[in-house]
Amino acid sequence: MTHVKNLFDLTGKVALVTGGSRGLGLQMAEALGEMGAKLVITARKADELAEAKRRLERRKIIVATVANDISNTAEIPQLVDGILSQFDGIDILVNNAGATWGAPAEDYPAEAWRKVIDLNVNAMFFLSQCVGKKAMIPKQSGKIINISSIAGLGGNPPGMATIAYNTSKGADINFTRALAAEWGRYNINVNAICPGFFPTKMSAGLLDKLGDSIKATTPLQRLGGEEDLKGTVVFLASEASRHITGQYIAVDGGATIC
Ligand SMILES: NC(=O)c1ccc[n+]([C@@H]2O[C@H](COP(=O)([O-])OP(=O)(O)OC[C@H]3O[C@@H](n4cnc5c(N)ncnc54)[C@H](OP(=O)(O)O)[C@@H]3O)[C@@H](O)[C@H]2O)c1
Repeated sequence: MTHVKNLFDLTGKVALVTGGSRGLGLQMAEALGEMGAKLVITARKADELAEAKRRLERRKIIVATVANDISNTAEIPQLVDGILSQFDGIDILVNNAGATWGAPAEDYPAEAWRKVIDLNVNAMFFLSQCVGKKAMIPKQSGKIINISSIAGLGGNPPGMATIAYNTSKGADINFTRALAAEWGRYNINVNAICPGFFPTKMSAGLLDKLGDSIKATTPLQRLGGEEDLKGTVVFLASEASRHITGQYIAVDGGATIC
């Protein structure tokens, strides 16, 4: 019988984290690395990737970086082939890169709608498809973790208008269920995390405006912090969650229970 601590161990695993250069992606990458995984992190900006790499290496984590725009889905096979030429497989995929755009639905720019859907939905599918086909299905093993949002569970509080984001994050949740249902037979677990409000570059404008009222109406009376996704991502990436698939976990201080 495996000791429970070993069920969470990721030694020898390879994890690909999109949008791993900062914010929630970097937090989750660090957690996976701290549990023993080798990392590949991607983002568009090479300088932020280099800074993230330095931070992770100071923690003795093995990490490679790839600068690319993951919403250019035609480039995904090249990205995956490059990783597979350097590492012995991809065991864990964290589909984290995401973007939002704020505007009232009636005036929402078509270009913004497409940009959000291309990254938050289309890139998630095409990268999962490619990693599944080239790395996980051949190995009959894998963990896919899709970063959705509590915005995928409903609309927004008054003062926020992000229709494409809410739509995309809702799609991410049902994509998670549908892919989990298809790929269970390959021993691939597909789950989602729905973060609540965490201070990052993406949420800065919103939290400047609404942070205090969000805290006041959140049962735990706090925003998400620098370590608050670490346990959840390690759990979903590890053998500890081997009998869980097609689920989402809201990491939101209880924001969605009221
Ligand atoms: N912060 C929150 O409160 C919150 C709540 C719920 C869910 N989330 C979700 O958590 C995920 C991470 O968000 P965050 O708050 O950490 O945002 P963030 O600080 O803006 O980080 C986004 C990351 O994605 C990368 N990225 C953006 N567009 C990309 C593209 N086209 N191709 C490749 N990489 C791209 C960014 O790097 P580059 O800019 O260099 O590309 C960065 O590494 C997103 O999916 C977001 O929807 C966040």
